[in-house]
Amino acid sequence: MPHILVIDDDSSVRDILEDFLQLKGFEVSVTDDGEKGISLIQERRFDLFLVDLVLPGMNGMEVIKEVYSRQINIPAIIITGYGAIETAVEAIKLGAFDYITKPFVLEELFLVVQRALDFSKLKQENLFLKRQLKQRYDFHGLIGSSPGMQKVYGLIKKVCDTDATILIEGESGTGKELIAKTIHFNSLRAQHPFIPFNCAAIPKDLLESELFGHERGAFTGAFNTRIGRFERAHGGTILLDEIGELHPSFQVKLLRVLQEREFERVGGSKTIKVDVRILAATNKKLEEETKAGNFREDLFYRLNVIPLQIPPLRERREDIPLLAEYFLSYFSKKRKRENIRMVPEVMQLFSQYPWPGNVRELENLIERVIILSEDGLIEPKDLPQRFKEFQGSTGQGETGSPLLTTEPEREVVLPDQGVNMNTLVEEMEKSLIQQAIRKSKGVKSKAAELLGLKRTTLLEKMKKFEMDFN
Ligand SMILES: Nc1ncnc2c1ncn2[C@@H]1O[C@H](COP(=O)(O)OP(=O)(O)OP(=O)(O)O)[C@@H](O)[C@H]1O
Ligand SMILES: [Mg+2]
Repeated sequence: MPHILVIDDDSSVRDILEDFLQLKGFEVSVTDDGEKGISLIQERRFDLFLVDLVLPGMNGMEVIKEVYSRQINIPAIIITGYGAIETAVEAIKLGAFDYITKPFVLEELFLVVQRALDFSKLKQENLFLKRQLKQRYDFHGLIGSSPGMQKVYGLIKKVCDTDATILIEGESGTGKELIAKTIHFNSLRAQHPFIPFNCAAIPKDLLESELFGHERGAFTGAFNTRIGRFERAHGGTILLDEIGELHPSFQVKLLRVLQEREFERVGGSKTIKVDVRILAATNKKLEEETKAGNFREDLFYRLNVIPLQIPPLRERREDIPLLAEYFLSYFSKKRKRENIRMVPEVMQLFSQYPWPGNVRELENLIERVIILSEDGLIEPKDLPQRFKEFQGSTGQGETGSPLLTTEPEREVVLPDQGVNMNTLVEEMEKSLIQQAIRKSKGVKSKAAELLGLKRTTLLEKMKKFEMDFN
């Protein structure tokens, strides 16, 4: 049961919060003073604290500053009076999770508390997972604790000590190359080279000499003998990236290397044997390409010994806040803008956006907003146009559905690379339900009415989506 500390000098607020949060199943402690609050936080393990901005003696901002300066990493929510938004924003810059203005609706406060706890749990889980993995492997740089990523980690652990060929499948920007590197650097081959090779980037006439090398005089311009990628990867790993783009005439040549681990340099007659582990990556569905006759079946089976599928980011939304935080801290260090902070609304927009460019898109976006940010605070207005679609048309902080806007004629835009319609429709349903529940302050029959659903249908949907609001 999460344990919450309330620091507020107003006894009626304290009482209401204590009763309400206890009713919601939390363990609650209260105090009326900032300094007492800090000593309680040091003595006991709290999961979250709510602190009033205006307190006699030490104020809420000072309390937050003090707690975080002691490396105590629990989320803080600041309670402010109406009109003190600027100070609240300052508190977020200091590291507070969110703020809530008085007078507040209790159910709203509950949602903020819930979000803060969920987020901090995710952060801890990621740390835990990483520590667990670190015992044997260094999974440096791989962020994510979603079930989808845990499956990926599990598979990496299983295969990295073997020499098995692995086909890494995932949309563009999902981290295929990063995962290939992780496999290599955690394998017994780690001290030997990791050679990535992009099959799509080399004209087909040069493919053979790039991969297998050539002898001096093999063709016009071949002044010297050249060692190819396979030979350079000897003892290590080669990553055949974008294998789906490999020219058909070359597919059969590759098949032989996969089977025999041997080849000849262009213009040479000596057979060269190499000890190389082969990883392949593709953003196409190679099985479908094979069925469609665009990719050799025998080669597909040779490559697909162990398939490793990386889910797109929109199917593991739990990872979005973790990745966003990670990139924020990485780029703010790199760009020497260390005090930069993101308001919670931005994170909410991130959680709803479909990320067609996956992790790379998120990474690039964060680097960009850090560079462009002037005041050290990242707000929805700092995001590119495409995020505007995701902001609700009503009220501040409301996050609207991507597909519904105030203009009824507005169409859904189908990105060039396509979408998963079922997922998108589900996301939309979830978002609408969330908003309806918020608007109706948690009264489900009212929420159902807002959505034109029967109450039972709404409950069924919430169950299906594993949404739980109390
Ligand atoms: N789980 C992750 N944790 C941290 N960073 C990640 C993760 N996944 C991807 N990245 C980062 O996102 C960027 C894109 O990853 P990567 O190049 O491996 O993707 P890819 O699937 O090979 O993309 P493409 O198909 O476009 O080549 C890289 O900068 C990588 O470090
Ligand atoms: Mg890549």
